Amino acid sequence: MTLRVKPTPAHIAQAATRLREGHLVAFPTETVYGLGADATNDTAVAHIFKAKGRPHFNPLIVHVSDAEKANEVSMIDAISQVLIEKFWPGPLTLVLPRRDEAPLSLLVSAGLDSVAVRQPAHAVAHALLREAGRPIAAPSANRSGRLSPTTADHVAESLGEDVSMILDGGPCARGLESTIVQVSDKQAALLRPGALTREEIEAVLGQRLALGPQGSAPTAPGQLASHYAPSHALRLNAHYIDADEALLAFGQPLRGKSCGLLNLSPRGDLWEAAAHLFSHLRTLDQAPCARIAVMPIPHHGLGEAINDRLARAAAPRG
Ligand code: TXA
Ligand code: MG
Repeated sequence: MTLRVKPTPAHIAQAATRLREGHLVAFPTETVYGLGADATNDTAVAHIFKAKGRPHFNPLIVHVSDAEKANEVSMIDAISQVLIEKFWPGPLTLVLPRRDEAPLSLLVSAGLDSVAVRQPAHAVAHALLREAGRPIAAPSANRSGRLSPTTADHVAESLGEDVSMILDGGPCARGLESTIVQVSDKQAALLRPGALTREEIEAVLGQRLALGPQGSAPTAPGQLASHYAPSHALRLNAHYIDADEALLAFGQPLRGKSCGLLNLSPRGDLWEAAAHLFSHLRTLDQAPCARIAVMPIPHHGLGEAINDRLARAAAPRG
C-alpha cells in the first residue's frame, strides 16, 4: 500500500528512512512532483524507470540539499557558481561534469560523463533531502511520456504501488519543470526551457545562452519527441473554436460553442498560465471532446517553456 500523507516532521523522517532503504518516495517541489530514489543506489534508481514505464534509461536530475552537496558529485566552475548563487534554491538544473569519485549510481547519468544537479525551493523537498543525507535522483512523478504531476492526486492517479510513500505538499507553485542549462568549457547552453526564463539567466550571465544538443528549437518535425502528452489530440494557436473541441484559453476566450473551457490565465499572465498548464490539460482531457484547441501563447519569458511543452504534447505520437 502506498502511504500518502500531509507531511509532519515525523513523516519526513519516515520518508527519508524509506529512501535510504531503497524505496521510492514522491515529493513536492516548486516545479512539479518528483519520484525520488537514493541516487547512490543502483537498484533504487533502476526502480524509477520501472515505476515510470520509461523504455530507456534517460539521465535523471540529482536533487541536493545545498551547493556543497552538488560540489561533491559535480565540478562547479565560475559560470556555474554565479548561476548557483543567483538562482539556488530554485527551478534551475545544471548539467555539469561529473566527478570520477562521485558516489552516484552510473544509471543516474545514463552513461554520460555529466550529471544534472538541482536544489529545489520547497520546504518539504528541502527537509527530505537534509534528512536523507544523500543525493536523491528524481524525475517528474508521472508515467513516461504523460503530463507532469502538479498535485499529489496526479501522482496517485498515474503511479501505482511501486511508490512507497507520497508526500502531499499541495499544488506546485510553478507548475512547469525546471530550466536545464549545461555548463562546460566556460559555455552555457539551454537544454530545456522551463520555470526560470531564458531572459533571467542571460541577464545574469551577460551573454546569450547557446542552444544545446537537445535544445528547444526542433529543426525537423521528427525531432520533436511526443512528450507531456494528454490522450486527446491538441490543436495549437487556435483562432477559432469548433463545437466538438474543448478550449484551453489564454486571456479573453474565443467566441463560439465549445465542449469544454478552461482558462490558463484570464488576465493573460504567463506565470499564472504556467502554474495551471498541466492540471488544466488533465482536466480537459477528461471532457468527452474530439480534441483540445489551445489559444496562442506569447513566446517571451515563461511563454518559451509553455510553448515548448504544448508543442511536445501536440507532436505526433511515436
Ligand atoms: O523540475 C524538474 O526538473 C523536475 C523536478 C522533479 O525536479 N524533474 C524533471 O525530471 O523534470 P525529468 O526526468 O522529467 O527530466 C529530466 C531531464 C531528462 O529528460 C534529461 O533530458 C535531462 O533532464 N538530463 C538529466 N541529466 C542529464 C545529463 N547528464 N545530460 C543532459 N541532460 C540531462
Ligand atoms: Mg518528466
